[in-house]
Amino acid sequence: MARELSPIEKAKLAAARRAVDFVEAGMRVGLGTGSTAAWMVRCLGQRVREEGLKITGVPTSVQTAALARAEGISIVTLEEARWLDLTIDGTDEFDADLNLIKGGGGAHLREKVVATASDQMIVIADAAKEVACLGAFPLPIEVIPFGWQTTKALVEEMLVSLDVMGREVTIRMKGDQPFVSDEGNRILDLHLGRIGNARQVALALNQVPGVVENGLFIDICDRVVIGHGDGRVVVRDFSGAPDEVDRIDFAATENLFADL
Ligand code: A5P
Repeated sequence: MARELSPIEKAKLAAARRAVDFVEAGMRVGLGTGSTAAWMVRCLGQRVREEGLKITGVPTSVQTAALARAEGISIVTLEEARWLDLTIDGTDEFDADLNLIKGGGGAHLREKVVATASDQMIVIADAAKEVACLGAFPLPIEVIPFGWQTTKALVEEMLVSLDVMGREVTIRMKGDQPFVSDEGNRILDLHLGRIGNARQVALALNQVPGVVENGLFIDICDRVVIGHGDGRVVVRDFSGAPDEVDRIDFAATENLFADL
């Protein structure tokens, strides 16, 4: 082994490795964005190379598209695929109802479009992403560049009437410039602390002119695969059925990170 992964990376890899078992030959698969999703793309690439698995991927970002290509996964756009069998993506938070906050990487707009166009969404996460109440992670909203300061002020005004703990709104920066999404938009981060009614907040935010999409994923995720640093994985679905517990053998994945 070229290097030892940290416990958190092992947890992400374990979740990703288990999740790609749900991918079957011929599927059109949405490929999420972020560090956990990157492990999933590598694991899927391994199945493509070693088992000859034939699938078509639809990446949710420029970054994921590049990784999928490098892994030998055949990719198309959502316009070409139209409808997907399954999307696998990471998350910033998930709660007991499998509602999510996403967009820490600034890709939640495409991620939500792709996940919603899929028969199933599987979320992969390390155990630290599980929360009793959404909102400690700043909620991203994607806004158009035109008049974004006005949009920000309208969002701040809207938050006054919503059941949230904090109301600070910041523009996401990359260095000394505002971050620009793959769609050419800006991201506002809402420091809410605690979101009392996530469904209401999600609906309200999308009413503000200039807001394209918020990072709350309500009733979209079907299953969460939770990874632990020791290789344990817990698979939970929205039906309330008992969790399934499994264990990943990292030896079978060593060539995925030997060169990293
Ligand atoms: C990308 O915009 C996000 O929605 C990611 O899926 C989310 O931030 C999880 O990222 P990590 O797997 O890197 O924590």
